[in-house]
Amino acid sequence: MFSLTVTCNKMWTTLIVIFVFGTTSGLVSASEPKNLPPYLTPCKKDAPNFDACCLSSARAGLPSIVNGDKEYGIPNFKPLKVEKVEINTATLKVLIEDMDLWGLDEADIKDFKMDLTNNEVRIDFHCPQIKILGKYKMDGKINLLTLNGNGDVNITLEQPDISFSINYKLIKKGDFDYVQMQDSKNISYNIQKLYINFENLFNGNEQLGKTTNDFLNKEWKSLIEDLNPTIKTTINTIAVSIINGVTAKIPYQNLFL
Ligand SMILES: *[C@@H]1O[C@H](CO)[C@@H](O)[C@H](O)[C@H]1NC(C)=O
Ligand SMILES: *[C@@H]1O[C@H](CO)[C@@H](O)[C@H](O)[C@H]1NC(C)=O
Repeated sequence: MFSLTVTCNKMWTTLIVIFVFGTTSGLVSASEPKNLPPYLTPCKKDAPNFDACCLSSARAGLPSIVNGDKEYGIPNFKPLKVEKVEINTATLKVLIEDMDLWGLDEADIKDFKMDLTNNEVRIDFHCPQIKILGKYKMDGKINLLTLNGNGDVNITLEQPDISFSINYKLIKKGDFDYVQMQDSKNISYNIQKLYINFENLFNGNEQLGKTTNDFLNKEWKSLIEDLNPTIKTTINTIAVSIINGVTAKIPYQNLFL
């Protein structure tokens, strides 16, 4: 079991650009204020079972959520399509396009807490497997390993446990307050095993490509450590853009009873 917790990535000089299909930027959308979608049960804010109610509402709603809902700006999760992830560090440039994330729809939500006093949402979930398929372009180095190529990429995470907490602000639009997520401050994850395959490394040099993929798969733990700020930012950006797309449509007062 490999486990890592990050609380800060300020030291990392990296540019990451991520676009998630089917989400809308929260502030620009000017739709009618909505109630919660019918598959999410609102909970009573000051009830003693508020936490338990939020968790069971999230769990019961998930099978509907993962089908996507245009009206609420919820993307389809089978798979979740990410247009592009672009990573630029001092030594490595990676672009992954047409990314499909498979397996988030199988998430088992372990915990879901809304801390209304500290304006914080916390989510813990487990997936049997998350598979990331896409087209990559890559040039540079991780530590001393040269990486160069373009083609199909397959990154498969076995048994990931992911938890993160995100703070939110209330933003006034018209007559209502809306939740707007900030960057998450605390993401941690455990993975049992990571499989990686970059097709067509080094202009299709099969021997070098195989050696490099074998090395990455053997050294996956240190690879994750090197890429950790990037992984953290990717999870953060995807989560924030999805949640903000939804909460921009439902006034704060309509989220609860
Ligand atoms: C991706 O890699 C996983 C793990 O090696 C494998 O089971 C799966 O078949 C691969 N998928 C594709 C589309 O290559
Ligand atoms: C971050 O998350 C870990 C593990 O979930 C938790 O134990 C810790 O208290 C959190 N730290 C902060 C600053 O929220």
